[in-house]
Amino acid sequence: MISSKRHFLFLVFSLLCFISSYADIVSHDGRALTINGKRRIILSGSIHYPRSTVEMWPDLIKKSKEGGLDAIETYVFWNAHEPLRRQYDFSGNLDLVRFIKTVQNEGLYAVLRIGPYVCAEWNYGGFPVWLHNLPGVELRTSNTVYMNEMQNFTTLIVDMLKKENLFASQGGPIILAQIENEYGNVISTYGDAGKAYMNWCASMANSLDIGVPWIMCQQDDAPPSVINTCNGFYCDQFTPNNPNSPKMWTENWTGWFKNWGSKHPFRTAEDLAFSVARFFQNMGTFQNYYMYHGGTNFGRTAGGPYITTSYDYNAPLNEYGDLNQPKYGHLKKLHDALHSIEKVLTYGDYNNTDLGSYNYITEFKHNGVSSCFLGNANSSSDATINYNGVDYHVPAWSVSILPDCKTEVYNTAKVNTQTSVMVKKANDAEVEPTGLNWKWRPEIIDEPVVLGKGQLSSGQLVDQKAINDVSDYLWYMTSVNLDKKDPIVGDTMTLRVNATGHIMHAYVNGEYLASQWATYGVFNYVFEKDVKFKHGKNQISILSATVGLQNYGGEYDSVRAGLPGPIEIIRKKGDETIIKDLSSHKWSYKIGLKGLDDKLFKADLKSDSQWKSTDLPVNRMLTWYKTTFKPPIGEDAIVLDLQGLGKGLAWVNGNSLGRYWPSYMTEDTCSNDPCDYRGGYWSWKCATNCGKPSQRWYHVPRSFINEGDNELVLFEEFGGDPSLVNFQTVRVGSVCGNAYEGNDMELSCQGRAISEIKFASFGEVGGACGSFEKGSCEASKDVLSIVQKECVGKQSCSVPASEDRLGSASCDAGVSKRLVVEAVCN
Ligand code: GAL
Repeated sequence: MISSKRHFLFLVFSLLCFISSYADIVSHDGRALTINGKRRIILSGSIHYPRSTVEMWPDLIKKSKEGGLDAIETYVFWNAHEPLRRQYDFSGNLDLVRFIKTVQNEGLYAVLRIGPYVCAEWNYGGFPVWLHNLPGVELRTSNTVYMNEMQNFTTLIVDMLKKENLFASQGGPIILAQIENEYGNVISTYGDAGKAYMNWCASMANSLDIGVPWIMCQQDDAPPSVINTCNGFYCDQFTPNNPNSPKMWTENWTGWFKNWGSKHPFRTAEDLAFSVARFFQNMGTFQNYYMYHGGTNFGRTAGGPYITTSYDYNAPLNEYGDLNQPKYGHLKKLHDALHSIEKVLTYGDYNNTDLGSYNYITEFKHNGVSSCFLGNANSSSDATINYNGVDYHVPAWSVSILPDCKTEVYNTAKVNTQTSVMVKKANDAEVEPTGLNWKWRPEIIDEPVVLGKGQLSSGQLVDQKAINDVSDYLWYMTSVNLDKKDPIVGDTMTLRVNATGHIMHAYVNGEYLASQWATYGVFNYVFEKDVKFKHGKNQISILSATVGLQNYGGEYDSVRAGLPGPIEIIRKKGDETIIKDLSSHKWSYKIGLKGLDDKLFKADLKSDSQWKSTDLPVNRMLTWYKTTFKPPIGEDAIVLDLQGLGKGLAWVNGNSLGRYWPSYMTEDTCSNDPCDYRGGYWSWKCATNCGKPSQRWYHVPRSFINEGDNELVLFEEFGGDPSLVNFQTVRVGSVCGNAYEGNDMELSCQGRAISEIKFASFGEVGGACGSFEKGSCEASKDVLSIVQKECVGKQSCSVPASEDRLGSASCDAGVSKRLVVEAVCN
């Protein structure tokens, strides 16, 4: 008896030990998150699992860890997981559990933003379109039909992750979860019902009992049970509404997203680092980069309207998963500096002195240890800040970190990380990379379209969302009888269509009439073309195409897509205008395209008699092209160059690369001024690529590729010339090292050898990577040959930026000496 009691006690004891050593208890107070009894600062980065492939995840997450992150944040994408009501998909790159486990295996925490409204430039903000079509539903407000569905999906996700013990409270990596997204930005649209919905979201989330805190972002009336967090380019001035909420930043935008027609965004490493350092200087404790890796909108996942397929975001890891230097490295050094003072930041007394002119000294003190930030938020004047009798040079728009309040280890404006210049290289596996052998076939405008016989019909014009977003394409078809005596019949008749989204191609009696499409931002347009109608029955068939459904705004979900009408025939007769409104005719609808139904994009390497290899058409609309290719050798990221094409869809071995639209040029308003990191960033500051295709290259993940022959299929909607299409690889072409005196100049060709040093100087250096110039002072030794000896032939090297090593440089007092090198990679 005694022994079995002992045995029992031993078991209970071991179980308790097991639970407490295994599970992380996450709590918080007004100062910080506490994990296992210790207050923490958390540096986190967003990676959205469906925007890369399963094969890419381990490398992306490993690089995130090496970049000094503690956590990975991701949204959960409802419409990807529940494309049809109660039919779920967690396969391939939708394998959420596997993604979170990959994060866990790398020893990182996870932040789970369930939403399930997410925005994210994702199709329809993450909502499945069938949700919009449920009878009696109203989205994102107190509506039981909607709330039941939202609760159902949220519960499903929570249960799935609980089952795998993935919450920190169960020993897993998830330390925080988010419900809704930026609802506070639009709550006023929904009146009192909005407020009730927000409170319901909080209590529904809490009822799921996940054992870690729930957050809401941009919700300044969040109930005390959830933490309100900040999103933006800067969040240092943010204060959460509840005193027990720590100051947390869920989205620090590392660049910006792109739409068709927009420039390439570029946010400097200096400004991004400044925003982060200033946030921690002002008692922030959790910060997440949105995005750390942006990735690719494969398939039809791009939101919009008009979000591009690339979601690179100018993030620290580029679309393909390569380091975006110097951003990645400059932030890594910042993370190291912040981690080194974690304890004093989260436990210390805070003392901030405003020196005027936007200069600040901030001291954190704990148990006799002090750490300091010297901040200069002035956007044009450098400052000399005197602290404890010592002068510190703090450049404009920068923060210095002094872990012991004496020695500066980091300044956000002093970049000691190399710049990597990425280049594209022709496909070395093909003798003639741009000489692909094409086959083609037309998209059949088949009998149902010509005769106007679709799968659905209605006595009115329907919103394109009625088809549950199963395709971009919907044919709107009707017929009209024109009797000789009908007053509308005359020499000139016009077809007029009021359209909202986003592209239309009109056919009359099986003959192509004309097309029109919206430009970004102006999605309502009027199509008007003269038509020759015949007497008797006329068939009007209009192919409407959407390019990503609206993802943001109050009641964004009801923004119309397709052809809301009116659709009219117009006759001008002298001063008189006669209008025949066809809007309430019987309209018949055909969903999608014949070629999509026939799955022409599915890999079929056997020659198919329906595909022709002669008379390859150029600039022919609604045309399918296919070719086989040998994939580029090696490990570098593969991109598909679609120059010469119009707009359409692309597949490699049946895997969708997303929509393409290289004929959509970037608006021509790039500034010629050099990019200045100083002063507030906004989405188009320092942007580039004007006058060029807004996206010419499309990512082909290596996992889409087979060893032998591979197949590329294109559906060209507008008409284009495939003869220049080719595959390329992306790699580091040259690197420019930079180190201020006292730091090491580090160079790495990321796996390749450094073949040549083009420039090296220690002292005052002007210009930028690719165009450096020596300034007024330079070190006495032959710096070029020192660097050559140290670096050429190696994959990486390091040279101290010191007079000891490079000889003295007699520079004026104001000059910050630095070692600057430009090297070529093999
Ligand atoms: C935020 C939103 C994100 C994303 C971002 C812009 O407002 O929460 O999901 O859309 O804007 O990239």
